[in-house]
Amino acid sequence: MNIHNNSLSHDESEPTGLSFFIDREPPQDDFLNDVIEGISQPEKSLSPKYFYDQRGSALFDQICALEEYYPTRTELALLNSIGPELSEYAGAESRVIEYGSGSSVKIKILLDALTRPAEYIAIDISRDHLLRAATFIARQYPHIQVGAICADFTDAALLSSRPVPSQEDESAPERLLGFFPGSTIGNFDPEAAQVFLRNTRRQLGPNGQLLIGVDMKKDTATLTRAYNDAQGITAAFNKNILTRMKKELGADIDSDAFEHYAFYNETLGRIEMHLKSIRDQSIFVGENEFVFAEGETLHTENSYKYSIAEFTGMTASMGWRRKAVWTDTQDLFSIYLLETIS
Ligand code: AVI
Repeated sequence: MNIHNNSLSHDESEPTGLSFFIDREPPQDDFLNDVIEGISQPEKSLSPKYFYDQRGSALFDQICALEEYYPTRTELALLNSIGPELSEYAGAESRVIEYGSGSSVKIKILLDALTRPAEYIAIDISRDHLLRAATFIARQYPHIQVGAICADFTDAALLSSRPVPSQEDESAPERLLGFFPGSTIGNFDPEAAQVFLRNTRRQLGPNGQLLIGVDMKKDTATLTRAYNDAQGITAAFNKNILTRMKKELGADIDSDAFEHYAFYNETLGRIEMHLKSIRDQSIFVGENEFVFAEGETLHTENSYKYSIAEFTGMTASMGWRRKAVWTDTQDLFSIYLLETIS
């Protein structure tokens, strides 16, 4: 792990203006092993993290702008509308820690809403994306200290090496505000979501707060449409995993023999995305042959949806108390402000 302080430059000629950069980049994913392990299971599956190469990330950005995909615009509108209340609840001089530095649009809304935010720390697994996003914020908000940590945000110890900032009032307790928008928590299984909530509770300390966006349970038709858009962008995003396997692993796959399949599993409260084989076929990855029967699927993603009671209960069991929750008028999406239970 490396720590660089003050005006770090990743290109020597261009100082980024970051107050620190901590490199806890995890070892490269072993895509080949994960693919072989995942499709050797009786129920074939692959981690959704493999969606996000450059093309997959661009497709995801397109999904966020789709008419059918309500979460992004609903969360943005909500964030915009709750600004004054949020600043009151969150208090002044927060140090904001964003788990996965996503679109700068959301963090800008938050920083603009808060009263005198003292610091912004971006965390992301992709070093290039992280430095670009954090540098952008540092330029836009020259009065805020901006730091960056390259890490997997499920890394429990990721804040342990953060340089402790000097405060004007030494006796005032540090106030850390975690920010985890986009309902990314829905892509974790409930057990993993609980581990994340427990880790953030520890990381953010006794005065910690967490602002988190969560997609809500709703009618099946709205949910199904959001993951089956008319233009086929979500289908292309899903099938991009096959393209990556062909390009990066030399896999022999007829992508046209798989179709995008997304449905709401009401019992488990989640959207499931799969790639469904349209005929009996084999695919080859290196020396290995994998047989798919007609109709058999490769499970690529879960996206859990939570009622307010469910999510409040889950967070309470991990040491968080709900300070506020906001939803839109149609109850599509929710944003929670949680505080630690002391
Ligand atoms: C990133 N995540 C919250 C998205 C979701 O809705 O679960 C990923 C996605 N998958 C298909 N469409 C969007």
